[in-house]
Amino acid sequence: MIGDKKVLFSGMQATGSLTLGNYLGALKNWVSLSDEYECFYSVVDMHSITVRQDPAELRKRARALLILYIAAGLDPEKNTIYYQSHVSAHAELAWILNCFTYMGELSRMTQFKDKSAKHGDNINAGLFTYPVLMAADILLYQADVVPVGIDQMQHLELTRDIAMRFNAIYGDVFTIPEAYVGKQGAKIMSLQDPSKKMSKSDENPNASVYLMDDPDTVRRKLKRAVTDSEGAVRYRDEQPGVKNLIDIYSVCTGKLPEEVEREFEGRGYGEFKEAVGEAVVSVLSPLQKRVKELEKEKEYIDTVIRNNAEKAEMTARRTLRKVQKKVGFPERVREREQK
Ligand code: TYM
Repeated sequence: MIGDKKVLFSGMQATGSLTLGNYLGALKNWVSLSDEYECFYSVVDMHSITVRQDPAELRKRARALLILYIAAGLDPEKNTIYYQSHVSAHAELAWILNCFTYMGELSRMTQFKDKSAKHGDNINAGLFTYPVLMAADILLYQADVVPVGIDQMQHLELTRDIAMRFNAIYGDVFTIPEAYVGKQGAKIMSLQDPSKKMSKSDENPNASVYLMDDPDTVRRKLKRAVTDSEGAVRYRDEQPGVKNLIDIYSVCTGKLPEEVEREFEGRGYGEFKEAVGEAVVSVLSPLQKRVKELEKEKEYIDTVIRNNAEKAEMTARRTLRKVQKKVGFPERVREREQK
């Protein structure tokens, strides 16, 4: 708790172009939860370097992501929006937690298996211990809730296990976080292969709607989305392409899947896809407009970056000191004198 509010933490990687999946599965929920909780939203640039990055590009994307958080409706006066790399406590706690995490647990992470298959020439130790840094992110802020898409659930389970293991040895140090997964949109699938998730790293640009795609591109991608030969707009597992489009349409319009089925009863896929395209455009257009406005407010963004990093640092340091004391690191003389 901070004041009378529970704490929320979440983050996104500044890697690749963000997709509609990132928005509908995570960012949109962040905005709807932000009044209720004391929130920390991080641009997790330290996670990004587990895969080789171009430095100038990473810097640019990290800033664009921070701007996107604000453009999506997160008020930086009320929420702490910051770069992970600006708060060194993340790395320090991650080291300690590494010593409470087993190789076997990390080897079972599906994201590690997928990424190491994909980047066979660079299976670095950071890629392996990635979930420990994620646990540090969450536990530093004593988060009660962590809104994520389904693909991050396994990492969240591990975070809980690490926290419980630590608490069992040292007492109640960490709050045990709960995942928050939206009823819909928690796993938006590829438009070209509805058996896999929509992903920023997909090589086929038609598989994903990127948040900065212009309206015509969005419409075209949805028109080309893979469906089936049933010819009926129905929300069922046997029609994964159509189900995914219903998910997208329902999250964008706030309608339930049953309502969408009724709306499109007896109407063809062409008409349905057109409606989905329009619904997505109506969500993305205002977001893009706000991004463009904020990009021009350089000084304002710099102030947000500075103030929020300081705010995050204060909370993070408090937990870190507590943990350092628990594990037996010597007290800093200056801090002892200040008591
Ligand atoms: P990342 O950057 O891959 O994704 C950011 C968020 O978007 C969600 N997401 C999706 N949701 C629905 N459908 C999809 N197709 C889809 N693709 C992505 C993700 O579940 C995520 O919520 N390791 C994390 C970042 C992270 C983090 C954290 C998250 C680092 N530390 C602490 C929460 C708490 C990641 O790579 O997410």
